[in-house]
Amino acid sequence: MGQLFNPKANSIAKLSLIIGGSLPVLAILGGHLISNSSYNTKVDVPLDQPVPFSHRHHAWELGIDCRYCHTSVEKSGFAGIPDTETCMTCHSQIWTNSPLLEPVRKSYETGLPIKWASGESGWNLVNNVPEFVYFDHSIHIAKGISCNTCHGDVQNMHITWKGQNFTMKWCLQCHTEPEKYLYVDKTRPDLTPREQVFNLYVKQQEDPKMKSLSKREIALLTGTNERYRPSKEEIEDGKKLITERNIKVKQLQDCWTCHR
Ligand code: HEC
Ligand code: HEC
Ligand code: HEC
Ligand code: HEC
Ligand code: HEC
Repeated sequence: MGQLFNPKANSIAKLSLIIGGSLPVLAILGGHLISNSSYNTKVDVPLDQPVPFSHRHHAWELGIDCRYCHTSVEKSGFAGIPDTETCMTCHSQIWTNSPLLEPVRKSYETGLPIKWASGESGWNLVNNVPEFVYFDHSIHIAKGISCNTCHGDVQNMHITWKGQNFTMKWCLQCHTEPEKYLYVDKTRPDLTPREQVFNLYVKQQEDPKMKSLSKREIALLTGTNERYRPSKEEIEDGKKLITERNIKVKQLQDCWTCHR
């Protein structure tokens, strides 16, 4: 008896099974592909904002904790952008005549969001991923991933820019080998991984020349973690941290982790 299916048909059948298996993912992604390129632009370029807000002044020089303004970053998927009241706790008393703060005062008086001179409202969003990508801040912070790994040296920026292109390949580099990226401050075993994320900035405030900091810490604080090559020892430590922090590496590469 001849073959029921020729070899070619067989491989087509196999292929359709594979495609079938990833159909839900492909369906979510369908139609979004064309607009994709716009998400991958403007790295390192400061974006215009209605008010020239400086992280360098506020987060580094004044030492205000990120969570004071990005209140939900460790609790939810969304980091949160501060409302006018947050600015006015200080700016109703200091720099009250600054023309740069006019949009903030106007917003406070009217109860409307901060506006551009053109009348358009809101801050210009620097970072985003396409809507078919699921992202969650809280789990990354809980596992000790520093803001700067993904956003560059924000605490050093006068006008905020985008630190990374959030391509799938980029996300997967860490999701495949998180041991290369996990940071721990061995001098502060009392701190949880989450607290270590924020304590890094305090260390820089206390030692601006960063003489007492490790190479990894300097790489994180200067936004050059991307190019940092961990030593064998650090990779071994990273592997231990994966176990300690209960990071499920296999699951991290699953399509459903980011496309659900
Ligand atoms: C005093 C308030 C304040 C503090 C403190 C602060 N930020 Fe911000 N942050 C803002 C405001 C306002 C914006 C929106 C304007 C802009 O992009 O600069 C912003 C924007 C950002 C963005 C870009 C958001 C986007 O549009 O995609 C990132 C990333 C960020 N902050 C990270 C941090 C980190 C990390 C820290 C701590 C080191 C921090 N911020 C501390 C007020 C603050
Ligand atoms: C904890 C207090 C505090 C908070 C909260 C705060 N600021 Fe400030 N801000 C300051 C101080 C102090 C300065 C002066 C810094 C300097 O010049 O060294 C300043 C300076 C500024 C300036 C520069 C003004 C000028 O004329 O040079 C801008 C713009 C500004 N802040 C915007 C904001 C915005 C927008 C927010 C809310 C997202 C905010 N600030 C929240 C304390 C604060
Ligand atoms: C693992 C990477 C990663 C880490 C770590 C990270 N972020 Fe983000 N952040 C992102 C991505 C991706 C977006 C765009 C999210 C979107 O489009 O939904 C973003 C967006 C933001 C925004 C814009 C508002 C929002 O939530 O979309 C702010 C503000 C922000 N991040 C602040 C922070 C701060 C503060 C920290 C540290 C406490 C931090 N991020 C840590 C990847 C990261
Ligand atoms: C530097 C390392 C690193 C980078 C970069 C990174 N992640 Fe993660 N991600 C992690 C770790 C660690 C976890 C926690 C895994 C665990 O606890 O099992 C995680 C978890 C997640 C989860 C699971 C959340 C949940 O609730 O189950 C999602 C979704 C995710 N990351 C999306 C992204 C996306 C999208 C990007 C790129 C924009 C990204 N990550 C970049 C390290 C990273
Ligand atoms: C760690 C998070 C993460 C995981 C896991 C992940 N993706 Fe993605 N994916 C992204 C991000 C972020 C983008 C948008 C940026 C881009 O296009 O590179 C994306 C975009 C895509 C796109 C749009 C086309 C493109 O490349 O621009 C397709 C198709 C896709 N993913 C398929 C998959 C499949 C299939 C899997 C499982 C094998 C998968 N993804 C796993 C984060 C992830």
